Amino acid sequence: FPATAPVKIAVGVNLEGQLVEADLSDPNTCHFLVGGTTGSGKSEFLRSLLLSLIIRHSPKHLKIALVDPKRVTFPEFEEMQWLYAPVVKESDRAIALMDELVTEMESRYQQFEKTGCADLTTYNQTSRQPLPRIVCIFDEYADFMTEKEIRTALELNIKRLGAKARAAGIHLIIATQRPEAKIVTPIIRSNLPGRVALRTASEADSKIILGGTETTAAYLLGKGDLLYQNAAKLQRLQSLLASNIQILST
Ligand SMILES: Nc1ncnc2c1ncn2[C@@H]1O[C@H](COP(=O)(O)OP(=O)(O)OP(=O)(O)O)[C@@H](O)[C@H]1O
Ligand SMILES: [Mg+2]
Repeated sequence: FPATAPVKIAVGVNLEGQLVEADLSDPNTCHFLVGGTTGSGKSEFLRSLLLSLIIRHSPKHLKIALVDPKRVTFPEFEEMQWLYAPVVKESDRAIALMDELVTEMESRYQQFEKTGCADLTTYNQTSRQPLPRIVCIFDEYADFMTEKEIRTALELNIKRLGAKARAAGIHLIIATQRPEAKIVTPIIRSNLPGRVALRTASEADSKIILGGTETTAAYLLGKGDLLYQNAAKLQRLQSLLASNIQILST
């Protein structure tokens, strides 16, 4: 797709068998929180989401930042041309990466100001050197939330990016196995508007991901069965599954 094409992620297939996608330039779906118990399908969801992006957008127009503390989610993607930085596996590198994204966001805002553009879409329509969208995909976010210092640093950066990064074309997709109030804090929740709940371990976890009194994620079937929340709308979908991924270098 050309640089000006909307960047959409595949969320899943609905009960009619149609693919449901989310547009990252939409304020309701610009950043995502993904939660679910072990084996519910979070990592597979992230992998198919990532494929849905790179299959349609060239590395010139799209950069991907991957954070993988478990080191098992993205092995096939370690060498791909879309990488914004080498796959991050340690907490200090995760903080550095988020710092870099904040700096990139600020510098983009300055460029937009100089050219009188409100956001990446308008900037890319007029600029001879379009800027790539950057999607940061973070698996097992809770693994980094145990130490207070790291937690504070990460939270601060998520807050900064959550508030302003959409217009700059930078997007966060954050998954966690433990959607407890201590890990998915109000700051994180209020800055990640798009929600995907796979099967949760409890009704309380379901409420944390989907908000309010929504307990239904606790009764999903697992293995990619999910609830997708976009603004006030809740949809039941089946996540895509991509096995045997091979990225060919061109
Ligand atoms: N969309 C899907 N369709 C069919 N099966 C799936 C789907 N997603 C996941 N599964 C099955 O569920 C298993 C677990 O999925 P996955 O590794 O993504 O879980 P997870 O939520 O990341 O678990 P953990 O929290 O332990 O990392 C997969 O190995 C696969 O067999
Ligand atoms: Mg996983």
